[in-house]
Amino acid sequence: MIPLFTFEAGEKAQLLSLLEQTRLSPYKNYADFSEEIRQLHPLVPSRFVKVCKDISNERARHQQKIHVIRNCPMDSAIPELDPDDPVRDKYLKKTRFISEGFLELFAQLTGTPLLSYETRNQGDFFTDVIAIKKYSGQLTGFSDSELVFHNDRTAHKVRADYITLLGMRCPDDDLIYTGYIDGADIVKNLEPKHIAWLREPHFYTIFDVFSRDMNKQLSTSEKHAILSNVHSIRFLDTMTCVAEEAPIEARDAFIAFKSAMTRSQCKRHRILTGDLLTFANQDGLHNREKIDILNPDNAASRWLLKTYAFKDTSTAKSFESYWADNRAGCVID
Ligand SMILES: [Fe+2]
Repeated sequence: MIPLFTFEAGEKAQLLSLLEQTRLSPYKNYADFSEEIRQLHPLVPSRFVKVCKDISNERARHQQKIHVIRNCPMDSAIPELDPDDPVRDKYLKKTRFISEGFLELFAQLTGTPLLSYETRNQGDFFTDVIAIKKYSGQLTGFSDSELVFHNDRTAHKVRADYITLLGMRCPDDDLIYTGYIDGADIVKNLEPKHIAWLREPHFYTIFDVFSRDMNKQLSTSEKHAILSNVHSIRFLDTMTCVAEEAPIEARDAFIAFKSAMTRSQCKRHRILTGDLLTFANQDGLHNREKIDILNPDNAASRWLLKTYAFKDTSTAKSFESYWADNRAGCVID
């Protein structure tokens, strides 16, 4: 994809020097960290403020729900993380939080409060898409595998409206693409009778292996619809199934949905180091394809910093009853 916005050298340096003034750790006290970033707003380069507004407007008008920003400010030192336990290693090795600050600023300027899960890395708002050795070859973002089309955390009750990824370390010679299909396109490719059945709770989703590991009580979701709102989707390919007792029409609709997915346009982006890729989690589906891996060891060291966000403050507020220990945005599974 062509970036919507590329930081010029001067703008990047200006924003970097602002973010470098911050000292708080988002992993120790997210609320204070977030407030520290908010204080920087008046000094942020105006072109970046404007592009964040443009992105919110395009999302609100259902015009475009995937965007790329290039040459973003980020940490100057990107440590190598232990593939056996990258998260614990990150806590030890990462002492500056410029990349986290930039993602927080992006969330604030697009009006999308961040979301985290209490059972995932103690509720960290900044998580890592990085290969963890023990998940190698499995269907989770925490593996080095390809990923089928899905929404993140499909089976969970509280789900992000937007996902943002920042390329911390993306090997130059490996062609790994993130694909995105917009829900509006899928719905356009469906007949009304199938849409009606897909809006009823005749389907369920098996939780991914990482979620099951983090919370042993999780196995399958309650029965759910695949379509909701105008064109929100709840689907994890190969793991979302038709309930056994569902009427035959629901099965037909499920097959029609899979065909509609295949017929829909897929936008693909290869995340480079310093790229920010942001896309709708519920109003679309995304995947990961490994097109050509010239150096498997390098590809395994790929590191993206990820945030989940609600689409606006009032949506975040509507989930207040899920907040863990009064930590706004951090939900109990
Ligand atoms: Fe994902």
